[in-house]
Amino acid sequence: MDAFEYKNKTLFCEDVKIEDIVSEVGTPAYIYSKNTILARYNELRTAFQDVDALICFSVKSNSNLSICKTLADAGSGFDVVSGGELFRARRAGGVPSKIVFAGVGKTDKEIRYALENDIFMFNVESASELEHINILAGELGKRPKVALRINPDIDAKTHAKTTTGKKENKFGIDFTEAENIVRRKSGYPHINLCGFHVHLGSPIYTVDPYASALKKMLPFIRKCRDMDCIVEYMNVGGGYCISYTGEEVIRPGDYASKIVPFIKEVQCKLILEPGRFIVGNTGILITRVTYKKETVHGRKFVICDAAMNDLIRPALYDAFHRIWPVTTNIKMADVEKPGESTVRRGMDTFDIVGPVCESSDVFAKDRPLPKVKEGDLLAIMTAGAYGFTMSSSYNTRPRACEVLVDGNTYRVVRNRETYEDLIRGEHV
Ligand code: LLP
Repeated sequence: MDAFEYKNKTLFCEDVKIEDIVSEVGTPAYIYSKNTILARYNELRTAFQDVDALICFSVKSNSNLSICKTLADAGSGFDVVSGGELFRARRAGGVPSKIVFAGVGKTDKEIRYALENDIFMFNVESASELEHINILAGELGKRPKVALRINPDIDAKTHAKTTTGKKENKFGIDFTEAENIVRRKSGYPHINLCGFHVHLGSPIYTVDPYASALKKMLPFIRKCRDMDCIVEYMNVGGGYCISYTGEEVIRPGDYASKIVPFIKEVQCKLILEPGRFIVGNTGILITRVTYKKETVHGRKFVICDAAMNDLIRPALYDAFHRIWPVTTNIKMADVEKPGESTVRRGMDTFDIVGPVCESSDVFAKDRPLPKVKEGDLLAIMTAGAYGFTMSSSYNTRPRACEVLVDGNTYRVVRNRETYEDLIRGEHV
């Protein structure tokens, strides 16, 4: 985890002490490392440079304007799934000619907004959606590029709630229906059908699902070309994994080793939609211990000021995030896996929980921690992707602030919400 390192027993983000940031901005706070975000983006670019892939950062993973702008300035495109995300991507300086738009339920309003913005491409997920785009494009005198999102019925072996490429999932179009659409393509005069899209789920820890999907795509692309469909683009989506445990995981080069030869064989332009890989390990959530308590039954709780409304992944997916004191004499284990105890001398195990009124408001169960006392800071690691973006104000809790570190400087890139923010737009 190179963005965050302990120096002299206290945690730093790049060259800034976390304690210094928090003494100014308070807790809970999301803290991101700008230079690691750029390093991850460049690592992907390098891995796929042979085919000059268009990288469209998946806005849903972290939509902070400043982070999107950092990536836009580096040349990234954007993958959006709503009118709101498109608005953000544009506000952050994203160029329309690098924006792709996915999602099973694009409304006419959203489609019109995207057409007016002349985005690069729609990833279309049903025949009905295609018809809507065709009509709206006709009305506006446009002919947008479209990729059909294929559901290849492949199990990417992710958490059940984040798998998208199996036949029972709502996403994409099966091969038979896609072939029918290609056959009828002259019935969509306002659409430039020019590619395909596959996104299997996330995070995907082996290259096999990508390889299996592309193996299925190969004969299909040939068949479409035989039907005079110009297949110019292949979008292989996102899902590139990161390590939540400290274990080594596969890197972009490993994915590229399977994807690039396929792209060369089918002679398409490649589009990638990474989210988690770019921002996941470049952000943490800092929280303060409010109370400790021990029940007569021997359960020990650390109650902190962040909660499931700030980071819902543990409650929603039983996701594992490493948690460690910001300042401590004891080194964090290099690898810590769910269910594997790393208790050492001076450590005990705790349930680390938030204050929200739900029993699922638990960040970690039976988790080894060095001695912590009320008022201490804890770092919840690997929280840069699907952290703040999935947060809410449930229990009428103001959402956390976000801070971006760049070398030895930092800046608040989203203010902590105030009570007034929480009721804005409501009427009595
Ligand atoms: N492209 C499409 C069409 C997607 O639906 C997604 C993610 C991505 C790209 C980016 O996937 P990534 O590279 O970030 O893995 N909330 C869950 C993850 C849901 C992912 C939704 N789609 C989590 O916290 O793990």
